[in-house]
Amino acid sequence: MSKPGSFEGQRVWITGASSGIGAGLARAFGKAGATVILSGRNREALAAVGADVPDAVVLPFEATDHDALPAIVHHAGAIDLLINNAGISQRSLAEDTDLSVYRTIMEVDFFAPVHLTKLVLPQMLARGTGHLAVVASVAGKVGSPQRTGYCAAKHAVMGFFDALRTEVSHRGVQVTTIVPGFVRTEIGARALTGDGSVKGAGDDDVDAGITADEAAAIILDGMARGLREIPVGGGGPEMALLDLKRQDPDRLLDLMGGMGEAVVRKLKGG
Ligand SMILES: NC(=O)c1ccc[n+]([C@@H]2O[C@H](COP(=O)([O-])OP(=O)(O)OC[C@H]3O[C@@H](n4cnc5c(N)ncnc54)[C@H](OP(=O)(O)O)[C@@H]3O)[C@@H](O)[C@H]2O)c1
Repeated sequence: MSKPGSFEGQRVWITGASSGIGAGLARAFGKAGATVILSGRNREALAAVGADVPDAVVLPFEATDHDALPAIVHHAGAIDLLINNAGISQRSLAEDTDLSVYRTIMEVDFFAPVHLTKLVLPQMLARGTGHLAVVASVAGKVGSPQRTGYCAAKHAVMGFFDALRTEVSHRGVQVTTIVPGFVRTEIGARALTGDGSVKGAGDDDVDAGITADEAAAIILDGMARGLREIPVGGGGPEMALLDLKRQDPDRLLDLMGGMGEAVVRKLKGG
């Protein structure tokens, strides 16, 4: 049994560990002495990340393959900390977005973490100990243009985990929501456009964000301190939106409306 706030000897399962924040988390938990189970679809990328983690287990799977999940969870064994990190984003106006794109984003960003969490939860409740986490987003708190599906999925997943906490924390199972601002990863380049194709090019604001290793350090520090919600950012303007939502929600809506107007003018003219 490790000391409170220590991850030494813990079994930590990270989805989306093949790149970005998940890879940063895998390296950081590895350094902290955890056994890290790395999941994602890209086996080669998972193996490459795992090579830098002293006690790594690579467990590839497609997060939306619901039929396969029970066997994957059985294979993963006893888990101390599950971090639902895998996700995809969106860059398209609602009027240009196929309904199928909303379904895909909800599958990856909402139903996949809900299903995996529901499958891991019983062992934690039976033991009376464990930790469930989700990497949501500032987009899970604030609506922003070209991300109607992504914001919807991230708001939904925040709601699921906040509600879950009310049911399980008094039974020994911790729940942490992680709320990153911009982190320099592949998320923008891999975002879906309105017809479901991948955007391909990164975003300036994402590229100006903190590194995945910096994000991971903030997350481990927040978890070690027992935070239930961990904002992850380097003081960029997007992090100020979280404060504005609490302090002056009407001003936040004005600000985001102005942002949306500028985006629509750029895309549609006028
Ligand atoms: N970067 C940011 O600015 C930012 C801000 C707020 C929140 N976030 C959130 O942070 C999380 C990690 O994203 P990231 O920024 O690190 O982006 P990333 O570099 O694109 O990583 C996304 C990860 O998700 C995995 N993934 C995507 N679809 C999957 C699927 N269907 N099945 C299994 N794995 C899947 C990918 O693995 P494979 O390709 O190997 O499947 C990859 O490892 C996401 O939930 C994202 O929404 C990011």
